[in-house]
Amino acid sequence: MSAGEDIAVRLVAPEEASHLVGLIQRCYGETYIDPSFNSEAAVGELLRSGRLHSIGAFTEPGELVGHMGITLRPHGGNTADAGMTLVDPAFRGRGIARLVAVGLAQQAMALGMVGVHDYPVTVHAATQRIGADFGVDTGLMLANLPGDVVFQEMETPSPGARTSSLIRWLPFGLAPERTVCLPKRYRAQIEALYADALLSRSVVESDERPTQRESKLERAYDERRQTLRVAVTRIGRDLADKVGAETRDAVTHGGLVAHVDLPLADSATPAAIEALRAHGFFFAGLLPEYRDGDVLRMQWLADSVDDTVASILSTDSTRAIEAFVLRDRT
Ligand SMILES: CC(C)(COP(=O)(O)OP(=O)(O)OC[C@H]1O[C@@H](n2cnc3c(N)ncnc32)[C@H](O)[C@@H]1OP(=O)(O)O)[C@@H](O)C(=O)NCCC(=O)NCCS
Repeated sequence: MSAGEDIAVRLVAPEEASHLVGLIQRCYGETYIDPSFNSEAAVGELLRSGRLHSIGAFTEPGELVGHMGITLRPHGGNTADAGMTLVDPAFRGRGIARLVAVGLAQQAMALGMVGVHDYPVTVHAATQRIGADFGVDTGLMLANLPGDVVFQEMETPSPGARTSSLIRWLPFGLAPERTVCLPKRYRAQIEALYADALLSRSVVESDERPTQRESKLERAYDERRQTLRVAVTRIGRDLADKVGAETRDAVTHGGLVAHVDLPLADSATPAAIEALRAHGFFFAGLLPEYRDGDVLRMQWLADSVDDTVASILSTDSTRAIEAFVLRDRT
Protein backbone atom coordinates (compact mmCIF):
# COMPACT_ATOMS: atom_id res chain seq x y z
CA MET A 1 0.00 0.00 0.00
CA SER A 2 1.39 3.45 -0.76
CA ALA A 3 0.70 6.90 0.65
CA GLY A 4 -1.40 7.61 -2.43
CA GLU A 5 -1.98 10.78 -4.37
CA ASP A 6 -4.56 12.08 -1.91
CA ILE A 7 -1.83 13.09 0.59
CA ALA A 8 -0.22 16.53 0.23
CA VAL A 9 2.96 17.45 2.10
CA ARG A 10 3.35 21.12 3.05
CA LEU A 11 4.21 23.39 5.96
CA VAL A 12 1.71 23.62 8.82
CA ALA A 13 0.56 27.25 9.24
CA PRO A 14 0.39 28.85 12.72
CA GLU A 15 -3.44 29.01 12.35
CA GLU A 16 -3.39 25.21 12.00
CA ALA A 17 -1.85 24.65 15.45
CA SER A 18 -4.98 22.80 16.64
CA HIS A 19 -4.38 20.16 13.94
CA LEU A 20 -0.92 19.45 15.35
CA VAL A 21 -2.21 19.30 18.94
CA GLY A 22 -4.90 16.86 17.79
CA LEU A 23 -2.41 14.62 15.95
CA ILE A 24 -0.08 14.51 18.96
CA GLN A 25 -3.01 13.47 21.14
CA ARG A 26 -4.04 10.73 18.71
CA CYS A 27 -0.43 9.43 18.79
CA TYR A 28 0.39 9.87 22.50
CA GLY A 29 -2.82 10.62 24.41
CA GLU A 30 -1.82 13.11 27.11
CA THR A 31 1.65 11.60 27.54
CA TYR A 32 3.72 13.50 24.95
CA ILE A 33 7.25 14.31 26.09
CA ASP A 34 6.74 18.08 25.88
CA PRO A 35 3.50 19.05 27.70
CA SER A 36 3.43 22.49 26.04
CA PHE A 37 2.32 20.72 22.86
CA ASN A 38 -1.06 20.14 24.49
CA SER A 39 -1.67 23.88 24.17
CA GLU A 40 -2.91 25.27 20.88
CA ALA A 41 -1.75 28.78 21.84
CA ALA A 42 1.79 27.61 22.68
CA VAL A 43 2.10 25.62 19.44
CA GLY A 44 0.69 28.54 17.40
CA GLU A 45 3.28 30.84 18.95
CA LEU A 46 6.13 28.41 18.24
CA LEU A 47 5.09 28.19 14.59
CA ARG A 48 4.58 31.95 14.28
CA SER A 49 8.01 32.70 15.79
CA GLY A 50 9.66 30.41 13.24
CA ARG A 51 11.37 28.40 15.99
CA LEU A 52 9.39 25.36 14.85
CA HIS A 53 8.95 24.49 11.18
CA SER A 54 6.26 21.83 10.91
CA ILE A 55 6.06 19.66 7.83
CA GLY A 56 2.62 18.11 7.58
CA ALA A 57 0.93 15.41 5.51
CA PHE A 58 -2.66 16.45 4.81
CA THR A 59 -5.53 14.41 3.40
CA GLU A 60 -7.64 15.93 0.64
CA PRO A 61 -10.29 17.21 3.10
CA GLY A 62 -7.46 18.94 5.00
CA GLU A 63 -6.92 16.60 7.94
CA LEU A 64 -3.34 16.49 9.31
CA VAL A 65 -2.31 12.81 9.39
CA GLY A 66 1.49 12.95 9.31
CA HIS A 67 4.17 15.27 10.69
CA MET A 68 7.86 16.01 11.24
CA GLY A 69 9.33 19.11 12.83
CA ILE A 70 12.52 21.12 12.56
CA THR A 71 13.29 23.06 15.73
CA LEU A 72 15.84 25.86 15.50
CA ARG A 73 18.15 26.25 18.50
CA PRO A 74 18.18 29.45 20.58
CA HIS A 75 21.83 30.10 19.62
CA GLY A 76 21.10 29.61 15.90
CA GLY A 77 23.73 27.98 13.71
CA ASN A 78 23.80 25.91 10.55
CA THR A 79 22.05 22.84 12.01
CA ALA A 80 18.80 22.21 13.90
CA ASP A 81 16.92 19.42 15.68
CA ALA A 82 14.58 17.20 13.70
CA GLY A 83 11.86 15.14 15.32
CA MET A 84 8.18 15.00 16.24
CA THR A 85 7.69 12.21 13.71
CA LEU A 86 4.01 11.34 13.92
CA VAL A 87 1.55 9.47 11.77
CA ASP A 88 -2.10 9.13 12.70
CA PRO A 89 -2.71 5.52 13.87
CA ALA A 90 -5.39 5.12 11.18
CA PHE A 91 -2.92 6.05 8.42
CA ARG A 92 0.19 4.05 9.38
CA GLY A 93 2.11 1.60 7.22
CA ARG A 94 1.41 3.47 3.98
CA GLY A 95 4.73 5.26 3.63
CA ILE A 96 3.44 8.59 4.96
CA ALA A 97 6.38 9.05 7.35
CA ARG A 98 8.81 8.55 4.45
CA LEU A 99 6.87 11.09 2.38
CA VAL A 100 7.10 13.66 5.18
CA ALA A 101 10.84 12.91 5.56
CA VAL A 102 11.35 14.10 1.98
CA GLY A 103 9.51 17.32 2.88
CA LEU A 104 11.74 17.68 5.95
CA ALA A 105 14.88 17.40 3.79
CA GLN A 106 13.56 20.06 1.40
CA GLN A 107 12.69 22.40 4.26
CA ALA A 108 16.07 21.91 5.99
CA MET A 109 17.81 22.85 2.74
CA ALA A 110 15.53 25.84 2.23
CA LEU A 111 16.54 27.01 5.72
CA GLY A 112 20.22 26.76 4.73
CA MET A 113 20.95 23.91 7.15
CA VAL A 114 24.02 21.79 6.41
CA GLY A 115 22.35 19.02 8.38
CA VAL A 116 19.95 18.18 11.20
CA HIS A 117 20.23 16.01 14.29
CA ASP A 118 17.48 13.47 14.78
CA TYR A 119 16.87 11.34 17.87
CA PRO A 120 15.04 8.14 16.86
CA VAL A 121 13.52 6.24 19.77
CA THR A 122 14.48 2.63 20.44
CA VAL A 123 11.12 1.42 21.81
CA HIS A 124 10.45 0.44 18.20
CA ALA A 125 12.47 0.52 15.01
CA ALA A 126 10.10 2.43 12.72
CA THR A 127 11.76 5.86 12.83
CA GLN A 128 15.24 4.32 12.70
CA ARG A 129 14.33 2.72 9.40
CA ILE A 130 13.32 6.03 7.88
CA GLY A 131 16.57 7.59 6.69
CA ALA A 132 18.74 4.66 7.82
CA ASP A 133 20.57 4.53 4.48
CA PHE A 134 21.02 8.27 4.44
CA GLY A 135 21.95 9.31 7.97
CA VAL A 136 24.82 8.31 10.26
CA ASP A 137 24.17 7.06 13.80
CA THR A 138 26.61 8.96 15.99
CA GLY A 139 25.38 8.24 19.50
CA LEU A 140 22.96 6.65 21.93
CA MET A 141 21.46 8.46 24.92
CA LEU A 142 20.65 5.79 27.50
CA ALA A 143 17.35 5.96 29.43
CA ASN A 144 16.69 9.32 27.85
CA LEU A 145 12.92 8.96 27.54
CA PRO A 146 10.60 8.68 30.57
CA GLY A 147 8.70 5.43 30.97
CA ASP A 148 5.27 7.06 31.04
CA VAL A 149 5.28 8.14 27.38
CA VAL A 150 2.63 5.95 25.74
CA PHE A 151 3.04 5.21 22.02
CA GLN A 152 -0.55 4.65 20.90
CA GLU A 153 -1.09 1.59 18.69
CA MET A 154 2.60 0.66 18.74
CA GLU A 155 4.02 -2.54 20.13
CA THR A 156 6.54 -1.56 22.79
CA PRO A 157 8.39 -4.21 24.79
CA SER A 158 8.52 -2.84 28.35
CA PRO A 159 5.84 -0.24 28.99
CA GLY A 160 6.66 1.90 32.01
CA ALA A 161 10.46 1.71 31.78
CA ARG A 162 12.75 4.51 30.59
CA THR A 163 14.14 3.91 27.11
CA SER A 164 17.05 5.15 25.03
CA SER A 165 17.26 7.36 21.93
CA LEU A 166 19.79 7.32 19.12
CA ILE A 167 21.59 10.41 17.88
CA ARG A 168 21.51 10.51 14.09
CA TRP A 169 23.20 13.03 11.79
CA LEU A 170 21.27 13.74 8.59
CA PRO A 171 23.45 15.74 6.17
CA PHE A 172 21.83 18.17 3.75
CA GLY A 173 24.74 20.33 2.62
CA LEU A 174 28.47 20.85 2.74
CA ALA A 175 29.61 21.42 6.33
CA PRO A 176 32.64 23.68 6.90
CA GLU A 177 36.04 22.02 7.31
CA ARG A 178 37.16 22.00 10.96
CA THR A 179 40.00 21.13 13.28
CA VAL A 180 38.87 18.98 16.20
CA CYS A 181 40.66 18.04 19.42
CA LEU A 182 39.99 14.40 20.23
CA PRO A 183 40.87 12.31 23.24
CA LYS A 184 42.98 9.27 22.42
CA ARG A 185 40.36 6.89 23.82
CA TYR A 186 37.64 8.01 21.36
CA ARG A 187 39.79 8.95 18.40
CA ALA A 188 39.32 5.81 16.25
CA GLN A 189 35.55 5.72 16.82
CA ILE A 190 35.03 9.41 16.09
CA GLU A 191 37.26 9.30 13.02
CA ALA A 192 35.19 6.38 11.72
CA LEU A 193 32.00 8.43 12.26
CA TYR A 194 33.52 11.40 10.41
CA ALA A 195 34.48 9.10 7.53
CA ASP A 196 30.92 7.67 7.36
CA ALA A 197 29.47 11.17 7.43
CA LEU A 198 31.94 12.43 4.79
CA LEU A 199 32.92 15.29 7.10
CA SER A 200 36.30 16.87 6.50
CA ARG A 201 38.09 17.18 9.85
CA SER A 202 41.75 17.67 10.86
CA VAL A 203 42.36 15.82 14.09
CA VAL A 204 44.59 17.05 16.89
CA GLU A 205 45.21 14.71 19.81
CA SER A 206 45.61 17.08 22.71
CA ASP A 207 46.43 16.48 26.36
CA GLU A 208 46.45 20.15 27.30
CA ARG A 209 45.18 21.05 30.77
CA PRO A 210 42.65 23.88 30.91
CA THR A 211 44.40 27.23 31.19
CA GLN A 212 41.37 28.97 32.69
CA ARG A 213 40.46 28.51 36.32
CA GLU A 214 36.70 28.83 36.07
CA SER A 215 34.40 27.02 33.68
CA LYS A 216 31.34 28.58 32.13
CA LEU A 217 28.24 26.43 31.85
CA GLU A 218 24.73 26.86 30.47
CA ARG A 219 22.43 24.53 32.35
CA ALA A 220 18.80 23.56 31.95
CA TYR A 221 16.88 21.02 33.99
CA ASP A 222 13.98 19.31 32.22
CA GLU A 223 11.54 18.16 34.87
CA ARG A 224 9.47 16.01 32.54
CA ARG A 225 12.53 14.12 31.28
CA GLN A 226 14.23 14.27 34.71
CA THR A 227 17.33 15.25 32.77
CA LEU A 228 19.98 17.91 33.36
CA ARG A 229 21.50 19.38 30.23
CA VAL A 230 24.76 21.27 30.46
CA ALA A 231 26.52 23.05 27.61
CA VAL A 232 30.12 23.90 28.45
CA THR A 233 31.05 27.23 26.89
CA ARG A 234 34.41 27.56 28.68
CA ILE A 235 36.49 24.73 30.11
CA GLY A 236 38.22 25.58 33.37
CA ARG A 237 40.11 23.53 35.91
CA ASP A 238 36.96 23.38 38.04
CA LEU A 239 34.84 21.70 35.33
CA ALA A 240 34.31 18.27 36.89
CA ASP A 241 33.58 19.79 40.33
CA LYS A 242 31.13 22.26 38.85
CA VAL A 243 29.33 19.62 36.77
CA GLY A 244 29.32 17.33 39.82
CA ALA A 245 27.62 20.05 41.89
CA GLU A 246 25.04 20.70 39.16
CA THR A 247 24.33 16.99 38.87
CA ARG A 248 23.86 16.59 42.64
CA ASP A 249 21.53 19.58 42.63
CA ALA A 250 19.49 18.06 39.77
CA VAL A 251 19.27 14.77 41.69
CA THR A 252 17.72 16.58 44.67
CA HIS A 253 14.98 17.71 42.23
CA GLY A 254 14.41 14.18 40.92
CA GLY A 255 17.09 14.18 38.20
CA LEU A 256 18.05 10.76 36.84
CA VAL A 257 20.13 11.61 33.78
CA ALA A 258 22.73 14.28 32.95
CA HIS A 259 24.15 15.29 29.57
CA VAL A 260 27.23 17.47 29.17
CA ASP A 261 28.13 18.97 25.77
CA LEU A 262 31.79 19.81 25.13
CA PRO A 263 33.15 21.80 22.16
CA LEU A 264 35.60 19.73 20.08
CA ALA A 265 37.34 22.91 18.90
CA ASP A 266 38.72 23.39 22.43
CA SER A 267 42.11 21.80 23.08
CA ALA A 268 41.12 21.28 26.74
CA THR A 269 38.15 19.06 25.80
CA PRO A 270 40.12 15.76 25.92
CA ALA A 271 41.26 16.56 29.49
CA ALA A 272 37.68 17.54 30.39
CA ILE A 273 36.41 14.19 29.10
CA GLU A 274 38.88 12.32 31.31
CA ALA A 275 37.87 14.44 34.31
CA LEU A 276 34.17 13.77 33.68
CA ARG A 277 34.78 10.04 33.18
CA ALA A 278 36.32 9.98 36.68
CA HIS A 279 32.92 11.28 37.88
CA GLY A 280 30.93 8.49 36.19
CA PHE A 281 30.25 10.16 32.82
CA PHE A 282 30.64 8.20 29.59
CA PHE A 283 30.29 8.70 25.83
CA ALA A 284 26.83 9.64 24.55
CA GLY A 285 27.53 10.87 21.04
CA LEU A 286 29.09 13.09 18.46
CA LEU A 287 26.97 16.01 17.26
CA PRO A 288 28.51 17.52 14.11
CA GLU A 289 28.05 21.28 13.71
CA TYR A 290 25.82 21.34 16.81
CA ARG A 291 27.18 24.58 18.25
CA ASP A 292 30.06 26.68 16.89
CA GLY A 293 31.45 23.47 15.39
CA ASP A 294 31.22 19.88 16.58
CA VAL A 295 30.16 18.85 20.06
CA LEU A 296 30.85 15.70 22.05
CA ARG A 297 28.08 14.73 24.45
CA MET A 298 28.86 12.81 27.64
CA GLN A 299 26.12 11.17 29.74
CA TRP A 300 25.57 10.12 33.33
CA LEU A 301 22.82 7.94 34.83
CA ALA A 302 21.74 7.74 38.46
CA ASP A 303 22.13 4.29 40.03
CA SER A 304 18.37 4.15 40.50
CA VAL A 305 17.65 4.19 36.74
CA ASP A 306 16.31 0.89 35.47
CA ASP A 307 18.43 0.52 32.36
CA THR A 308 17.79 -3.16 31.79
CA VAL A 309 15.37 -2.55 28.91
CA ALA A 310 16.96 -3.76 25.68
CA SER A 311 16.90 -1.22 22.85
CA ILE A 312 15.25 -2.27 19.61
CA LEU A 313 17.88 -1.47 17.01
CA SER A 314 17.42 -1.87 13.30
CA THR A 315 20.83 -1.82 11.63
CA ASP A 316 24.45 -2.88 12.15
CA SER A 317 25.49 0.76 12.60
CA THR A 318 22.96 1.33 15.39
CA ARG A 319 24.13 -1.86 17.10
CA ALA A 320 27.77 -0.76 16.70
CA ILE A 321 27.18 2.60 18.36
CA GLU A 322 25.28 0.93 21.21
CA ALA A 323 28.21 -1.46 21.76
CA PHE A 324 30.66 1.45 21.85
CA VAL A 325 28.57 3.38 24.38
CA LEU A 326 28.12 0.34 26.63
CA ARG A 327 31.86 -0.45 26.50
CA ASP A 328 32.71 3.10 27.49
CA ARG A 329 30.32 2.90 30.41
CA THR A 330 32.09 0.01 32.10
C1 LIG B 1 6.83 5.85 13.59
C2 LIG B 1 5.71 6.31 12.65
C3 LIG B 1 5.87 7.78 12.41
C4 LIG B 1 5.85 5.55 11.31
O1 LIG B 1 4.86 6.07 10.42
P1 LIG B 1 4.38 5.28 9.10
O2 LIG B 1 3.79 6.25 8.14
O3 LIG B 1 3.55 4.14 9.51
O4 LIG B 1 5.77 4.78 8.51
P2 LIG B 1 6.07 4.36 7.02
O5 LIG B 1 4.88 3.62 6.48
O6 LIG B 1 6.58 5.53 6.23
O7 LIG B 1 7.22 3.31 7.24
C5 LIG B 1 8.53 3.71 7.58
C6 LIG B 1 9.33 2.50 8.05
O8 LIG B 1 8.93 2.16 9.38
C7 LIG B 1 8.56 0.78 9.47
N1 LIG B 1 7.48 0.68 10.42
C8 LIG B 1 6.28 1.28 10.36
N2 LIG B 1 5.55 0.96 11.46
C9 LIG B 1 6.32 0.12 12.20
C10 LIG B 1 6.13 -0.54 13.43
N3 LIG B 1 5.01 -0.43 14.14
N4 LIG B 1 7.14 -1.30 13.92
C11 LIG B 1 8.31 -1.42 13.22
N5 LIG B 1 8.55 -0.81 12.03
C12 LIG B 1 7.54 -0.06 11.54
C13 LIG B 1 8.13 0.45 8.06
O9 LIG B 1 8.20 -0.94 7.84
C14 LIG B 1 9.09 1.25 7.22
O10 LIG B 1 10.36 0.60 7.14
P3 LIG B 1 10.76 -0.35 5.90
O11 LIG B 1 10.40 0.40 4.66
O12 LIG B 1 12.23 -0.53 6.08
O13 LIG B 1 9.95 -1.58 6.04
C15 LIG B 1 4.31 6.00 13.26
O14 LIG B 1 4.24 4.65 13.54
C16 LIG B 1 4.02 6.78 14.54
O15 LIG B 1 3.55 7.91 14.48
N6 LIG B 1 4.26 6.17 15.73
C17 LIG B 1 3.98 6.81 17.01
C18 LIG B 1 4.87 8.02 17.29
C19 LIG B 1 6.33 7.66 17.23
O16 LIG B 1 6.78 6.63 17.68
N7 LIG B 1 7.12 8.59 16.64
C20 LIG B 1 8.54 8.43 16.48
C21 LIG B 1 9.31 9.01 17.60
S1 LIG B 1 11.08 8.98 17.21
